Amino acid sequence: MNRTTLARNLGTLALATIASVASPSVNAADGTVNAKSCVGSTPTPEQRRADLIKAYPGIADDTRPENPKILCPFHRLLERTGMYDSSRSIAGGIRVAISLISNLASEFGCSKLSCGTVATAVSAGQLTQGTTSFGRVNVEALHSAVGIAHDCGLTFEKGGQEVSDRVRDRTLNELKTLADSSGRLKLEDLRKVQLNRCNEQGVKPSSAGLLEGELIYTFLGGNERGTILYDDVVRFLHAQLPNTIGEPGRAKN
Ligand code: HEM
Repeated sequence: MNRTTLARNLGTLALATIASVASPSVNAADGTVNAKSCVGSTPTPEQRRADLIKAYPGIADDTRPENPKILCPFHRLLERTGMYDSSRSIAGGIRVAISLISNLASEFGCSKLSCGTVATAVSAGQLTQGTTSFGRVNVEALHSAVGIAHDCGLTFEKGGQEVSDRVRDRTLNELKTLADSSGRLKLEDLRKVQLNRCNEQGVKPSSAGLLEGELIYTFLGGNERGTILYDDVVRFLHAQLPNTIGEPGRAKN
């Protein structure tokens, strides 16, 4: 099996682990802040959100612009915490240690197992392309993550390496028309729009791409509420902390 095939298989396996194992209790070995507010009790999503804003005030406002070279909205959001700044290099993109990603991601509700495994698979895929260094993910080269990266994104052009305002606006406009009178969306609305992007580009939807729809849905509280808010999708796709947060994983409904 060559290295690229191995990376593809790893990617598939990694995505399979994004299951409902989320647990936000984290430790700050590398400077990340624990989002658990009271020792011994699991914080509510509202407390978790308030704690995140207290720790990283820039994620809920416009003080720090998003980095359009980061194609994953979750990592665009994490980058705005400032915690990736020490991983910047002069050339070659922001290469973030997998341990930092898993700790920080778990503060945002993605379990270390889920996000750590995906980060490991992305790193492996990038290593085959020479776009990262061992043990790191180049968050500015996610398109090179063999096994997980795909075309027909919600926010980028086919083959694009940066967020495209045109594609993102198109996605959001379509979602707006699908939202109900209270601005709520169902998982199938997200899927519909994802398929529209793929059809437009003549690209077969990948399992990784479809799972990303579930990640949006669950991160925006879909598993708890049965719907998500259109306004929160707007926030998330612009790398701002949504008002309602859940735990990213597989959708239950
Ligand atoms: C640490 C774990 C993660 C890694 C390493 C990662 C990496 C990636 C990669 C490689 C892509 C594909 C980029 C491309 O095709 O060019 C992507 C896209 C995406 N990711 Fe992540 N991701 C992670 C966690 C998450 C989480 C937890 C969420 C949701 C809360 C998320 C939401 C998305 C979405 C929605 C897209 C598609 C963006 C679009 O279609 O425009 N990711 N991510």
